[in-house]
Amino acid sequence: MKTFLHASDLGQLDLALQEAAEIKKDRYAFEHLGKHKTALLIFFNNSLRTRLSTQKAARNLGLDVVVLDVNQGAWKLETERGVIMDGDKSEHLLEAIPVMAQYCDLIGVRSFAGLTDRAADYSENVLTQFILHSGRPVFSMESATAHPLQAFADLITIEEHKRQARPKVVLTWAPHPRALPQAVPNSFAEWMRAADVDLVVTHPEGYELDPLFVGDARVEYDQRKAFENADFIYAKNWSCPGVTRPEDYGKVISKDADWTVDSEKMSLTNDAAFMHCLPVRRNVIVTDDVIESPRSLVIPEAANREISATVVMKRLLESL
Ligand code: CP
Repeated sequence: MKTFLHASDLGQLDLALQEAAEIKKDRYAFEHLGKHKTALLIFFNNSLRTRLSTQKAARNLGLDVVVLDVNQGAWKLETERGVIMDGDKSEHLLEAIPVMAQYCDLIGVRSFAGLTDRAADYSENVLTQFILHSGRPVFSMESATAHPLQAFADLITIEEHKRQARPKVVLTWAPHPRALPQAVPNSFAEWMRAADVDLVVTHPEGYELDPLFVGDARVEYDQRKAFENADFIYAKNWSCPGVTRPEDYGKVISKDADWTVDSEKMSLTNDAAFMHCLPVRRNVIVTDDVIESPRSLVIPEAANREISATVVMKRLLESL
């Protein structure tokens, strides 16, 4: 595996899940793979979980780790070719990427969507430049349209906690005061479609996800109806993906508090587990009692970020 952005990059998901379970039993089993090798983790945006879990995973594999926060201490980077660079950006990605590649063996990149230009965001401009110009294996640590390390951790968590062979998994939009990217729901939908689950997506009209990710998954606009008999509720806010309303791409088009996940709605489910990738705004996305309930999996999900990242970097190291 040379790049990691989509579920298909891992090949058969059941084998990847088996590998995750084995690594969870002995997370240092592949410590030899990273000896005298370096992972460079580049953050264009903030992070808590990804920053910590990916470093821990790299160390599980015996890698040295270098973390670069591009916007704190590095030269400000231009990402578009053809720009006359007489503004505040001192260096172009086209030089910075091959330079950074000199100092490492694999590269993780976090670069969020700008949420103003749908075509630019969905072309994965920044991540693609790293893939094209670094000559190194590259993995997304949440790029413009996808967060595959999160979705893989979510799938591992569902596999560990499911009570029936083919659980009903509901991806529900929930309100948020700010415009957030579509990367997490995109990847969650993509990975759940690739896995053996009954996926239902629920959101207000106008929040339809890109067909590239959501495919022909069932969409239910009535959130309460979607929750009926669900085994897992996965809550997330996202901004307008611009599929049915191109003019509203990246905007907040609803703040309807009736979509907050609360115990009354959870009571409609099959005693569902509650999931969210974090960070989460309490009593906006989900009420205190639901996130604090014994059925909340938000901490095991975060813990599995170390496992998903270990599997992914192991696969990348094996490709060197
Ligand atoms: N879930 C997740 O990616 O968290 P961070 O943004 O804190 O890394």
